[in-house]
Amino acid sequence: MSKGVSIAVVGSGYVGLVAAACFAEIGHSVVCVDNDEAKVRTLREGGVPIHEEYLPELLSRHRSNRVEFTSDLRSATQRAQAIFIAVGTPQSQTGSADLSYVDAVASEIARNIDSYKVIVEKSTVPVYTNEWIRRVIERNGVSREHFDVASNPEFLREGTAVADFLHADRIVLGAETERAAELLKQIYLPLSSGDYYRSADAVPGARGENDPPPVLLTSTKAAEIIKHASNAFLATKISFINVVANICEAVGADVEEVARGIGMDSRIGPKFLRAGVGYGGSCFPKDVAAFRYVAEQMGVDFCLLKEVERINEEQKRRFFHKVRSALWTFRGKKIAVLGLAFKGGTDDIRESPALDIVKQLLHEGAIVTAHDPAAEGRAKEVIPPGSQMRYADDPYTAAQDADALVILNDWQEFAELDLNRLHYTLRYPIIIDGRNLYGPATMLEQGFTYLSVGRPGLSHTRDAAVGQRLP
Ligand code: UDX
Repeated sequence: MSKGVSIAVVGSGYVGLVAAACFAEIGHSVVCVDNDEAKVRTLREGGVPIHEEYLPELLSRHRSNRVEFTSDLRSATQRAQAIFIAVGTPQSQTGSADLSYVDAVASEIARNIDSYKVIVEKSTVPVYTNEWIRRVIERNGVSREHFDVASNPEFLREGTAVADFLHADRIVLGAETERAAELLKQIYLPLSSGDYYRSADAVPGARGENDPPPVLLTSTKAAEIIKHASNAFLATKISFINVVANICEAVGADVEEVARGIGMDSRIGPKFLRAGVGYGGSCFPKDVAAFRYVAEQMGVDFCLLKEVERINEEQKRRFFHKVRSALWTFRGKKIAVLGLAFKGGTDDIRESPALDIVKQLLHEGAIVTAHDPAAEGRAKEVIPPGSQMRYADDPYTAAQDADALVILNDWQEFAELDLNRLHYTLRYPIIIDGRNLYGPATMLEQGFTYLSVGRPGLSHTRDAAVGQRLP
């Protein structure tokens, strides 16, 4: 194994915590810094504040030796060779990224630099942020030879973030000096050399010692743009397939067949062509808006992204109308909801289309019983349980005597329901599936009225309510 680097990661959110655990996993000494004392305490005591596969294992493997938690940015800065900034960049009212946390952290780091450091942007930030960080540090009296600012964007998906980090498609290193590039390369060497994958307890994934992730060295500006452009492109792909789904629905074709046909073109690829209720989460909505704003600031008209956002909003609205088309009215109706997080495999409810749809159902008077394997706790903070909103521990309890079941995210277990049991648990066997987890023909065979996205609606009765175009 290569020589370990002393690393500080500032921010212990989804990105920072995963990065800290993974840097420790590949042999570095890591201090993870957060100004939230309670969070630091939880992490020190062995708690894991987010639901992320392999994260608890990695943290317990390294907690007492290679990774520690602190709120003391000063000493973390002094001990580190590389400082990764992984604090939040929330969306401001204009759609631009609010960089005040990055600014504050950069100033604090600057006040404590006592030897050469590489300060690395890990948060998703607009192009030119590295320039701003450099200026902030210089303004605090640190001379150029004592630091470099680099950009190392992450492409982690929530739920699979650890495997995405350790088995990356690519490692993008944006640096302006040889010295900064060398340190970053050294940090990622255990992955790029393939060494890590030789270890018996390596986290499993797509990469191996003979197929390590490639390293792409770029300018810092290019690295910043790569991150925004990647997320904007993926969001565009989703909005594109959602509109294609709507066409499929109108003509009676199946979007799953169409997506397969499109995706078999190697220039397009099969991923991110799943039609549904629209994208959500902490990245896509924020990053599409921020990239559009960056373009605008540079005098470039990127109205394509505006359309991507509009289609995404429209997709949630269309789905809600689909539920209505099956139930006619909502007041007093009992609706079982599967899925609250913005997708399966995570407890994150930020910008969750599922929550938007639940809120709309409640607004129109429905009585909702929801189940999500991990997001219930967070959802309760936004929609507290009450007479109209209930939470259930499993799908069948949620479905008990419901007038219909609505599927809003794609947890694997929602795709493996006991359909027989579900049929006699529901009051009416109606399923409206926002993630196309089942085949329409199977559902018909099982006696369900089944509506999904971009596929013909099927009913076991002759009930015309399944004509998905009914107003
Ligand atoms: C995304 C990027 O994938 C990741 O590279 C980046 O670092 C952070 O943002 P994440 O937000 O965790 O990751 O979720 P992802 O799995 O990409 O899904 C984003 C949203 O798109 C979810 O709401 C998901 O349900 C939706 N989606 C995804 C679709 O509707 N259809 C698809 O085909 C794929």
